[in-house]
Amino acid sequence: MNSKIKRIGVLTSGGDAPGMNAAVRAVVRAASFFSIECVAIYQGFHGLISNNTKLMNARGANNIINKGGTVLKSARCLEFRTTEGRKKAFDTIKINKIDGLIIIGGDGSFTGAMIFQSEFSIPVIGIPGTIDNDIFGTTHTIGYDTALNTVIEAIDKIRDTAISHNRLFFVEVMGRDAGHIALNTGIGAGAEEILIPEEDMGLDRLLDSLKRSEKSGKSSSIVVVAEGDKTGKNVFEIAEYIEKNLPHYEVRVSVLGHMQRGGSPSCFDRVLASRMGVHAVESMINGKSNVMVGLDNSEMILTPLSKAIKGKSKINKDLIRVSDILTV
Ligand code: F6P
Repeated sequence: MNSKIKRIGVLTSGGDAPGMNAAVRAVVRAASFFSIECVAIYQGFHGLISNNTKLMNARGANNIINKGGTVLKSARCLEFRTTEGRKKAFDTIKINKIDGLIIIGGDGSFTGAMIFQSEFSIPVIGIPGTIDNDIFGTTHTIGYDTALNTVIEAIDKIRDTAISHNRLFFVEVMGRDAGHIALNTGIGAGAEEILIPEEDMGLDRLLDSLKRSEKSGKSSSIVVVAEGDKTGKNVFEIAEYIEKNLPHYEVRVSVLGHMQRGGSPSCFDRVLASRMGVHAVESMINGKSNVMVGLDNSEMILTPLSKAIKGKSKINKDLIRVSDILTV
């Protein structure tokens, strides 16, 4: 292989996501396939600053494809936002003779990677790993599919108890500023209403909708609320408002929280991570830099990191329509 890339570094950064390990494995194995050495960098940009690194060969990535979390550990690193921090990080690059970096993470990690690349001209390729699915340039991020399945399973269980007690449940799901998890799991779990950051539904519409459902004979309901919902109120405030206005309802709140980030990755996420890892290594060998690998129409594509960060991944408005129809 005639490439300037002889040794690459790989790290996971930001919130962990199921499938990150499958991506690490794919990067390590693809590198080995093309006779490139791979340096595992632990604890994200923290490890890059503190030289927490280890050479990893193909066998080093054995038995991790099925594991949740990230064996490389992750961190949200404030020091990497400083020039001093990034200088220390570049020292690690030099000490370990790393020719290119593969960053598995979300938009915060890509922003840091882009600045680092512009300061030190080190080739950088991003692999989108976040349960939020909020990155432009890919229809799916690694971890999103698994998180959807985890949430669906949890809401199905909540439904059992909601029905038994004729209760109204507000279930808060993650997603930061994006409503992908809420919208898709809301439909998948048959929720009465779905509150997302992209659309301001307003509390009065929610109230009307719940009244309508009651009239139509429903005795229990589930409302899925994205953590970044646009009503400007958190899930407890929303529940309180509804309880005040519909006092005969017995209302409960369930915040699913970090369990949404854990667990063994789905087959979809494992395959996606495997493809992205291989494609990232191949792209780096082919001289690409400052780009993110993504999935589009079953194909692997590359998007400039700047676009991936600034562009918004749009929610599918048809899903809102479908949800409205089905909650008749
Ligand atoms: O970006 C992934 C995510 O799980 C978001 O959905 C959530 O808002 C955030 O990370 C939570 O971050 P932390 O784990 O730092 O509390």
